[in-house]
Amino acid sequence: MPAEIGTMLVTRAFGDEANKNITSYEEKGGYKIARQAMAMTPDQIVEQVKASNLRGRGGAGFPTGLKWSFVPKGAEDVHLVVNCDESEPGTCKDRELVYWDPHLLLEGMIIAAHALGAVHNYIYIRGEMMKEYGVLVKAVEEAYARGYLGERAMGTGNRPCHITVHRGAGAYICGEETALLNSLEGLRGQPRLKPPFPAIKGLFGRPTVVNNVETLMNVPFIIDKGGQWFADLGVGRSGGTRTVCVSGHVERPGVYELPMTITFRQLIDEICGGVWKGRKVKGLIPGGTSMPPLDASELDVPVEFDALMTDERIRPVEIAAGVPFDMGGGRQLRTMAGSGGIVVFDDQTDVVKLCSRIMGFYHHESCGQCTPCREGTGWLDKICKRLAAGKGKEGDVELLGQIANGIAGNTICALGEAAAWPMLGFLTKFRSDFESRCTIKKGAAA
Ligand SMILES: Cc1cc2nc3c(=O)[nH]c(=O)nc-3n(C[C@H](O)[C@H](O)[C@H](O)COP(=O)(O)O)c2cc1C
Repeated sequence: MPAEIGTMLVTRAFGDEANKNITSYEEKGGYKIARQAMAMTPDQIVEQVKASNLRGRGGAGFPTGLKWSFVPKGAEDVHLVVNCDESEPGTCKDRELVYWDPHLLLEGMIIAAHALGAVHNYIYIRGEMMKEYGVLVKAVEEAYARGYLGERAMGTGNRPCHITVHRGAGAYICGEETALLNSLEGLRGQPRLKPPFPAIKGLFGRPTVVNNVETLMNVPFIIDKGGQWFADLGVGRSGGTRTVCVSGHVERPGVYELPMTITFRQLIDEICGGVWKGRKVKGLIPGGTSMPPLDASELDVPVEFDALMTDERIRPVEIAAGVPFDMGGGRQLRTMAGSGGIVVFDDQTDVVKLCSRIMGFYHHESCGQCTPCREGTGWLDKICKRLAAGKGKEGDVELLGQIANGIAGNTICALGEAAAWPMLGFLTKFRSDFESRCTIKKGAAA
């Protein structure tokens, strides 16, 4: 049955302070599903996750079961790493999820570790999340004390499962999975060249699966009720629900778990109490600031992963230089569900200033390893700042488009696209706002 507004899986414990305590979690059936999973073979678990259409909630929406199946069968010293770095502006769901339901994450990890044959596993949490770090450390200690973790996980004779919680130091790039692995190894947090992908050569050179917090928290539900049940909750190739964090100009910002089929308009009007101060929507960022925006004519698109990329109602793009920007696979630039950070902006918003703020972030966070990203994000930042200050020059819009196109696809990791895609998206959807700032004639002193 499709999920409805109010269907709560991963957010079911929000507001329940006692749930963090293992006894309270157990009283509600906690860790029973992990025990059941121990009686399943790893292949059976992977098959259920594949059937569930669970897609990664960290940004790319990659099918989780498929990712797990890339780990070579029978490999030793496999690692499972949870990505709780969550530094994408606009995204703040994972910190809430681990705060309210840390044992659900651990239960999901125990099941995933069994499926992957992973023994030493890690939760990489953003350094600033002190409160959530404390909650996780306590939960891990409780799970060890109960024998759910340890040399004989879940009381089995031969299944060790260990979890270490590791704090990052607050760098956005360390959310990129291979930079995260470098950081975990004590190296500089810079992305690795791929291939080899982590499933083959990851942490300490061993096969590794990196998954987002929300992704893994869905796994116990899949094992409990079956992959098909989870697939049916969603739509098309996207199973389950989606957790989003809504911020910006709405009456009721917050973290909400939603059916995949809900549209952005419904979300704003029915869940978030409408646009604040009785104003109208000018646009929104659908999945963290690295995702191209939607404008006010595009709000009837569902929050589901594929709809955001392919919905025919979203206009094709003609970017600054007149060259269509291609996101790969033949898709023209539309947008993506990303990491669930939805930022709504009203009709009084200065989108040039907004875009400039975003470019400033990616410039600051570029690790500097790849020239197109290191230099390109700096140029985007500089030109956007100039436009925001009303000192734009003739030709700046075209220049921004050319720089963004020069970054996308030419870097080791997707931080380059994280700057280029929204730049191109803002130029496309709000082009006249940018053009109106380009008042200084070429050759004239700025
Ligand atoms: C610059 C950058 C930052 C990222 N930050 C995060 C993050 O904070 N959390 C996250 O789960 N994924 C983040 N990702 C995506 C991860 O690289 C990876 O795809 C994800 O953790 C995989 O988990 P999933 O398959 O469960 O989505 C980031 C990617 C890039 C390029």
